[in-house]
Amino acid sequence: MKLEKKVVVILGASSGIGLACAKLFAKKKSYLVLVARRKERLLRIAEHLSSKTKVLVIPADITKKDQLTRVFEEIKKTFKQIDVLINNAGMGIPGSLSEIKDYDWDAQFNLNVKAVMHACQYALPLMKKGSHIISVASIAGLYSRANYSVYCASKHAVIGFLRSIRFELFLKGIRVSWICPARIETEFFKYYTKRPPQWHLLPAKDVAQVIVTYAEKNFLKRCYFRLRNLLKRIFKLFFFWY
Ligand SMILES: NC(=O)c1ccc[n+]([C@@H]2O[C@H](COP(=O)([O-])OP(=O)(O)OC[C@H]3O[C@@H](n4cnc5c(N)ncnc54)[C@H](OP(=O)(O)O)[C@@H]3O)[C@@H](O)[C@H]2O)c1
Repeated sequence: MKLEKKVVVILGASSGIGLACAKLFAKKKSYLVLVARRKERLLRIAEHLSSKTKVLVIPADITKKDQLTRVFEEIKKTFKQIDVLINNAGMGIPGSLSEIKDYDWDAQFNLNVKAVMHACQYALPLMKKGSHIISVASIAGLYSRANYSVYCASKHAVIGFLRSIRFELFLKGIRVSWICPARIETEFFKYYTKRPPQWHLLPAKDVAQVIVTYAEKNFLKRCYFRLRNLLKRIFKLFFFWY
């Protein structure tokens, strides 16, 4: 699919993987809708990208239903449709079962699961045959680790949801995909007392490239980037200097 003039909505566009996606989709001349809480950041990003394409900034906390509804109302008013929805906003708060707080439990499920469900539901009336929902899940949604129980549970839950709507939306011609990255160099680790070492991390751009190839429906390019990322990771693990 050619991405030029396609409307791409990025939830969680102010940093990390979302920001890297915004830059790559702007290069493809897609129309961008950037959503996150930090308005100043979004405006700075939009200023930088608006020389390449149309950019609509909607500051919102997507865990708040009224704010998420407003996001999709504004998209309807401006672009009338959505070609690609990227559910990227997410958070991970580590902690053992005995120390995890109710607040952290709710915060992770509200953002990693409920906001994705609501976003898909609100986006649906604006999507037509050929539109695409792409979600950033995590390797934690496939495998579990000690001290990440709530994050792992939320990412397993969201994959279950996406698997189900993939069948449901297939008949409408709407594609549903998700990616499960491992450690990426972003602000994600701000809740961690100890950041993973640099040689464990891949740049956010590497994940964004895979997301763009999903949106383009370019199977070969996607295989190339995924294989390259896997090899990079293996190299990084074995040769710290890579
Ligand atoms: N980094 C990793 O190692 C890794 C690995 C696997 C999966 N992931 C997944 O990748 C996704 C992106 O994370 P990242 O690594 O790029 O981290 P990040 O740099 O912290 O980005 C998170 C984004 O989500 C937005 N966000 C957070 N809470 C929000 C809310 N309530 N409403 C609206 N926007 C909100 C943040 O913007 P504001 O703060 O401005 O709202 C930010 O733009 C997440 O779903 C994460 O689970 C990350």
